[in-house]
Parts: sequence; structure tokens; C-alpha cells
Amino acid sequence: MSNSLLCVESLSKYFPGLNKPKKVLEDVSFTLSSWDSLAIMGPSGCGKTTLLLIIAGLLQSSRGSITIDGEPINGPTRKIGLVLQEYGLFPWKTVEANILLGARFQKLKIPEKRLSEFKSVLGIEGLDHLYPHQLSGGQRQRVALARALILRPALLLLDEPFAAIDAITRERLQDRLLAVFGHRQFSFIIVTHNIEEAIFLGKRILILNNKACGLCTILENPGVGDLHYRTKPGFFELSTRLRNLLEGLD
Ligand SMILES: Nc1ncnc2c1ncn2[C@@H]1O[C@H](COP(=O)(O)OP(=O)(O)OP(=O)(O)O)[C@@H](O)[C@H]1O
Ligand SMILES: [Mg+2]
Repeated sequence: MSNSLLCVESLSKYFPGLNKPKKVLEDVSFTLSSWDSLAIMGPSGCGKTTLLLIIAGLLQSSRGSITIDGEPINGPTRKIGLVLQEYGLFPWKTVEANILLGARFQKLKIPEKRLSEFKSVLGIEGLDHLYPHQLSGGQRQRVALARALILRPALLLLDEPFAAIDAITRERLQDRLLAVFGHRQFSFIIVTHNIEEAIFLGKRILILNNKACGLCTILENPGVGDLHYRTKPGFFELSTRLRNLLEGLD
């Protein structure tokens, strides 16, 4: 599709195995538009992180093609940001230095206004001179998000970003991500094991299947974007459907 931001076509990934190659992803295809979101779910080991790393240009696919804005992805690109579960913050650098790390690396000057805007919307003002070990898990996660978002990627990849965070803080972080998403025109893909998180954040929910090594189902989620969605009947209906689907995979 020509108007897609991201186009994944017949993607397969095999890792070298002892006797034969280990098949992890087989013939996975999907597209993502601009200002779009996708949640990816599936059993442990089904290839979710592998898929994100391939999209980020950090891992080679075995077959298939991936394009962003029509250009093939052959390596890391500024158009794509990645936030991993372990935050990836440098412990010896302050919060501000961590936030600006990617920008420094790319020799980009970030306007002060943009920097303070992101700190404010993510609720990390006043932490500039602290070091990561002086922050809570939720604050660290927000610093990692700020570092990726400040580069204004067209596509942000999030691998279980809120997994190690308590339920309430986690929902606040989801709210903040949705708030930034409402103001900034980027797209994101979030990998999560949490059904409510997938429904709250993904305009579509893609389920990968361990046995088939590929795409199982894509669910449409028209209610997404509503900050009160968690209390709506549509939210509960979809979570029951999703739970049944996921249980059927094992
Ligand atoms: N570099 C590698 N070499 C060989 N096998 C690998 C490599 N990386 C991942 N795998 C295998 O590929 C499969 C998919 O791994 P991946 O990390 O993508 O799973 P996942 O869906 O993200 O799982 P989880 O939900 O537990 O994070 C696993 O069986 C894993 O052992
Ligand atoms: Mg993973």
C-alpha cells in the first residue's frame, strides 16, 4: 500500500539451529499508517522482540521486505525509535544527558521549548540532575520514552515498556503515552503481554502464534483513543475476546 508508513510483507526469520534452522517468524505481513498504533501480543518466544528488532533495522530478516515511507529498511534509521524493557539508560549520565543522548549522537540541536514540552507532558520536570539509580522504575521509563520521542521518530517501537511497573503507575504511563500520541503525529507499535494495555493503546491488535510462527489474527479496536475507554463496555467485550483467543493458542 503506497500510503502506508510501514509495510511488512511476507517476513520470515530463521535462526541457525543445531540440526536445522530454527523458524521463528513465517510469512508475516501487515501495514501501519501515519499516526497509527498497533499492539502486538502472543505467547512467550513467538517472535515479538525479533519482529521489533528487524523493523528497527538491528536484525536481518531471512525473507520478505520491510519498508518505511516506501524505502527499504537496511539498518537503523532516524525515522524509527526503539524503547526496550530495560530502559537502556546510561547509569553514569544524568537524566538530562540521557534524554539528549540520541540527539547528541546524531548531532541534533533540540530546541529548549521542545525539551521542556516533553518533560512536562511526561511528568519528568525537575529531575534533570539526578542519575537513573535515583529514579523510580516509572520515572526511568518516562526518561527512556522522552529520549526516543524527542528525536521525533515517525515510528516508535516499544517492547514491553511498562512490564516492570505497578498496575496504577502503568495505567498513568499508558495515559501519558496516549496524550503525547494525541498531540504528536507519530505511529507506534507496542509489544505487550497485558490484555488491557493492548486494548487501551492499539488501534489494531496483532496476535502472533507460536506454533504457526506467524500472524494469527488482527483485531480492530475502534474505541481506542478515549481516555475513559477502560470503563466502557466495548473495552470489556474486547478483553474477553482477546483472552479467549490467547488462551486458544497454547
Ligand atoms: N539471536 C538468536 N539466536 C537464536 N535464537 C534466537 C535468537 N533470538 C531469539 N531467538 C529465539 O527466537 C524465539 C523468539 O524470541 P523472541 O525474543 O522474539 O520472543 P518473544 O515473543 O519476544 O518472547 P517474550 O514474550 O518472552 O519476550 C525464541 O525461541 C528465542 O529463543
Ligand atoms: Mg520479547
